[in-house]
Amino acid sequence: MKRILFAALAVTVLPLAGLAQTPPPASPAPAATPAAPKADAPKADAPKAEAPHKAYVPGLEQFMNVILMEHNKLWFAAKARNWPLAEYELGEIKEVMGDVQDIVPVFKNLPLADMLDAVITKEIVDLEKAIAEKDYKKFVAGYDKLNAACNACHQGTENGFVVIKRPTTPAFTNQDYRPAKK
Ligand code: HEC
Repeated sequence: MKRILFAALAVTVLPLAGLAQTPPPASPAPAATPAAPKADAPKADAPKAEAPHKAYVPGLEQFMNVILMEHNKLWFAAKARNWPLAEYELGEIKEVMGDVQDIVPVFKNLPLADMLDAVITKEIVDLEKAIAEKDYKKFVAGYDKLNAACNACHQGTENGFVVIKRPTTPAFTNQDYRPAKK
């Protein structure tokens, strides 16, 4: 909810802030004044003004690929009954979804932030419960429901060709998914 408010603020307040900085229109020059060469025109060898700093903003597909990676790890963490790792990976998925809400609240005129809110408050919450209860059967059912939610949004955003399913092999073999020995 906080995120949506922030996004709404960013959309409504920032353009106004921009307007406030716009200089007032210059008063028209008297018609009789001959066009004199401007004394302050930049010379060719004048030092260039520093380029404004442009922050790098990742595209939605980059966030999605991070989610995909964590979604793979989540499966193998739970399969190994490494519940703290499963909790961590699901938390990361949620965090990235939150970042998407902040950075891409609207996608092709669709309310992506609201659509994500539905998944975060339903499918993700159900999975959190399964993990907290260390209930593998419940986890598997919840994982399939999460996949259905991923795919429903892909279909709803004309990305129905992106199909998410249960993984068959870990995306990485250099991370041990077994619970850490105490
Ligand atoms: C609220 C909508 C929404 C939800 C929920 C969602 N996605 Fe996406 N996803 C998108 C959109 C939109 C794109 C297309 C992005 C683009 O075109 O830049 C996308 C693209 C992708 C891609 C393609 C990226 C690529 O380069 O191949 C993957 C993978 C992906 N999503 C994974 C997931 C997974 C896994 C889930 C669920 C855990 C999920 N998504 C949930 C909206 C969503």
